[in-house]
Amino acid sequence: MKVLSVVGARPNFMKVAPIITAIRAHNALLARCFESRKEIPEAVDHVLVHTGQHYDQALSDSFFADLGLPEPDYNLGVGSGSHAAQTAEIMRKFEEVLLRERPDVLIVVGDVNSTLACALVAAKISFDASGRRPLIAHVEAGLRSFDRTMPEEVNRVLTDQVSDILFTTERGALDNLTREGVPAEKVRFVGNTMIDSLLAYRDKANASAILHTLGLCSGAANGNSGRSTAPYALLTLHRPANVDSRDAFLNIVEGLDELCGQCAVVFPAHPRTRQRIADFALHGHFSAGPPRAGKIGIIEPLGYIDFLCLMSHAKLVVTDSGGIQEETTCLGIPCVTVRENTERPITVENGTNMLAGVRKDGIREAVRRQLEKTFSNEAPPKWDGGAAGRIVEILLSASHVRSVDRGARRESTVFENVDLSKGAAARLDRSGLAGPRDSTCPLS
Ligand code: UD1
Repeated sequence: MKVLSVVGARPNFMKVAPIITAIRAHNALLARCFESRKEIPEAVDHVLVHTGQHYDQALSDSFFADLGLPEPDYNLGVGSGSHAAQTAEIMRKFEEVLLRERPDVLIVVGDVNSTLACALVAAKISFDASGRRPLIAHVEAGLRSFDRTMPEEVNRVLTDQVSDILFTTERGALDNLTREGVPAEKVRFVGNTMIDSLLAYRDKANASAILHTLGLCSGAANGNSGRSTAPYALLTLHRPANVDSRDAFLNIVEGLDELCGQCAVVFPAHPRTRQRIADFALHGHFSAGPPRAGKIGIIEPLGYIDFLCLMSHAKLVVTDSGGIQEETTCLGIPCVTVRENTERPITVENGTNMLAGVRKDGIREAVRRQLEKTFSNEAPPKWDGGAAGRIVEILLSASHVRSVDRGARRESTVFENVDLSKGAAARLDRSGLAGPRDSTCPLS
């Protein structure tokens, strides 16, 4: 089976990394079982495509290093642009890659422009006269903010409509998909691959020196004990609705004035946000250098490990990101989300998240209330580090994991005969591909 995965922007990297790890683990297991064979049955041939939507060292390269991602097989180098220009450029270049690679499965993750652009190309491509195309698997399907002014919401709805296999992170996603006419048999609740990464890298993050570097920790430079960490809040803001208008941005900054008086507020700023601070002459609210109480301490965007460390030790996180709402839920860190809505309701219902809206009074009130609460870090169902393994297992178990023949309408039978309880050994036996296995093989 040939699988092609797409990454484009910062929040994609930690969602795809565990899937690649699970594929490597699957291949390594099979290689041990079929040492003597030239062709290993059920091995997965994986191709990684980076669209280049994010291209900075801080937003892209450092994540590849931190997450142990392989060099992409293709980098489309599309860069920034308007939504239309960026989406069109990705589509144009991705079509060439898809025609060359002809994968059985395309994996797209999340809700960025790269996600929709590549899914749309695959939905209309023909590898031959019968209209053969790859199965489209969407990881993190079915999340809805019900706010179509968000570009990500448009990307989510449309990607789900053209996908053949929809992997969901929370149970409510199935209701959203059902309402939009997606057949339930296409949907699989597998958990959250972003949380797979968080759990896999939590220990490494704890050993990061970032707290020390920022003067937030009096402990040793190679470790961050919670006891020696000064209380601080962590802030991220980058959504166009929040930072592209001066009034909106100023309201948020003023909503954080009380918090700034209480503790240091550390703000690793996205390039978009940094540009707007300059455009709107908002410098007076921010300070560079070591963060301390009084002003918002602006720093460069951080890599995955350092950011995870800062998040894990924060007293409070204030954000407009989607993923950070989930990560703080898993870590048990109080989170104030500076938005009117969330596509991740489980973070509010079962978790640590509170929606503050975008006006200053609401933000001040949410900060006060969140600082008074204590939370446990009980993770939502299936946020257990095993989501990527389940995804790979489902893709392998599906009886029709092969390119979709449009004429025969095989999409609807994708999940027939899937029996996850039987696992790899039974699947191989059923397929007749297995043959005799080495007696030391764990599948025997
Ligand atoms: C994108 C995603 C958003 C995600 C965010 C995470 C879409 C529609 N949006 O938003 O869902 O939460 O990534 O960061 O896909 N820029 C750089 N260097 C880069 C990339 C961008 O400086 O490597 C600057 C450019 O000025 C660019 C601006 O950031 O115009 C916005 O980048 P873009 O990819 O359009 O959207 P994001 O705001 O990053």
